[in-house]
Parts: sequence; structure tokens; C-alpha cells
Amino acid sequence: MESIYQPVADLILRRQPCVALTGAGISAESGIPTFRSKGGLWEKFDPTVYASIEAFRGDPSKYWSIRGEFIRNYDAYQPNPGHRALAELESMGLLRHVITQNIDGLHRKAGSRSVTEIHGSLREIFCIQCGKEYRAPNIPEGTPPRCECEGVLKPNTVLFGESLPIQALETAWREAGGCRVMLVIGTSAVVQPAASLPFIAKEHGAALVEVNLDKAFSNADYFLEGKAGTVLPELVSEMRKQS
Ligand code: APR
Repeated sequence: MESIYQPVADLILRRQPCVALTGAGISAESGIPTFRSKGGLWEKFDPTVYASIEAFRGDPSKYWSIRGEFIRNYDAYQPNPGHRALAELESMGLLRHVITQNIDGLHRKAGSRSVTEIHGSLREIFCIQCGKEYRAPNIPEGTPPRCECEGVLKPNTVLFGESLPIQALETAWREAGGCRVMLVIGTSAVVQPAASLPFIAKEHGAALVEVNLDKAFSNADYFLEGKAGTVLPELVSEMRKQS
């Protein structure tokens, strides 16, 4: 009996290069809350108050009250089988690049090497006054934590109202425009410009495969319903069988 993974495995094997676009859903099984699905961060905290650059400039302690714990426990968060499946796909030579909206660094921890973090990362933290760089989890105490120069620290992440790192954006556009299959994993696809990447891929002839608990895309060619930590390892094992 054909598995639901067979046609998708066959598609990826036949249509290279393959690129993945990931969102918070792939990190949910690592214990990191998503933003908009059930129990998401933005259900509890208004992002314009807690995660916009304007709010940060006014009162950085709000942002730090929702991000300080993650940064100080940075090493404790581990990739899950979904991240590891993408790293394995890369090592099989079947996944050229991961474009992630996530700032948790878990793709790199899982062993993926070709990764673009378009919203930056909580790994690097800078003093907004003198530019001194700190590395998670080693940051001073306090909310907000301050540099030796007394400047406020800010993680190297893109807050609402900030522009994305142009280098990362150019890479993401290039990889989306150059792939023949895009795996769209665990994203509600509502935040631009990330949400345009699957459309760029499709316009350039790529097939879209969505992995999500429920459909966020109406025009995906395949929809693999379920948790990324279950679906992706199944897909990779099917690809191992067929390759
Ligand atoms: N496996 C697969 N998908 C999942 C899982 C899971 N275990 N758990 C949740 N999802 C799906 C949800 O159904 C939803 O479609 O992941 C998606 C998460 O959506 P969001 O919480 O909106 O996260 P994301 O799409 O990454 O948000 C994009 O918004 O707030 C900004 O900068 C932030 O990068 C973030 C951006």
C-alpha cells in the first residue's frame, strides 16, 4: 500500500534543488511556543508592545521580559526530530538550503549548515550604545541587561518595524527563486516578506509541499498534515528507501 509520503519523496528525489522555509511550528516540539497557533506568544503578549523596535526604544524591559529566559537558557533548548530530519536531508545532498523565520538557532544545533536566519538569532546580543557583542547564554543580569558601558543590550533579531538583514533577504529570494521544490514547514505564512517566498518559488516553477497541523497555504501541491517532528522523519525514511 503506497504511503502518503511516497509521492512527495519521489517528487523531491526527481526535482532538485529542494529548499525548506520553516516557521515556529518546527520548534514547537522543542518546547518553544509558537506565535499565533493555540497558546502562542502573541495570544499572551501584544507584539506591538513587546516586540516592536519602537516599543523597545521606549521600554526595553518589556521585550526582555519575554526573551530573557530563553537567552539565559539558550543551551538547554534542543533540536527535535524535525530539525534533525532536515539536517539529514542536507547531508544526503537532497536539501540545498533552509530559510528559517525562527530565531532559536535550532537548525544549526541540529547540524544544518546551509541556513539563512531571515529574522536573525537570539544567539548574538549587542550593546546598542557601543556595539559590544555578547553570546547567549552569557549576558549580564537585569531586565534589561546592560553592557559595561551602561548601554542596553539587544539581541540580533528583527523586531516589528525593523528591516530584515539585506544579505539574508537576498539569499532567501535567490534560493526561493532557484528551487524546484519548496518544503513549507510550520508557518502561518502571514508575516512578510517571508510569506512571499513560497509564491516566488511557485512563480519560478517550483512545487510546494506544506507540512503543518492545518493548511496555511491554499496553493500547496502537497499537504502533509501533522507535527513536523513526526512527518519529516517519516518523509526522510521514505526517501532513504527510494534513493
Ligand atoms: N508541526 C508543524 N506545524 C506546527 C506545529 C508542529 N508541531 N505546531 C504548530 N504548527 C504550525 C501552526 O499550525 C502554524 O501554522 O506552525 C505555524 C506557526 O505559526 P506562527 O505561530 O504564526 O509562527 P510563524 O509562521 O513562524 O510566524 C512568523 O511572525 O511574530 C513573527 O517573527 C515572528 O518569525 C515569526 C513570524
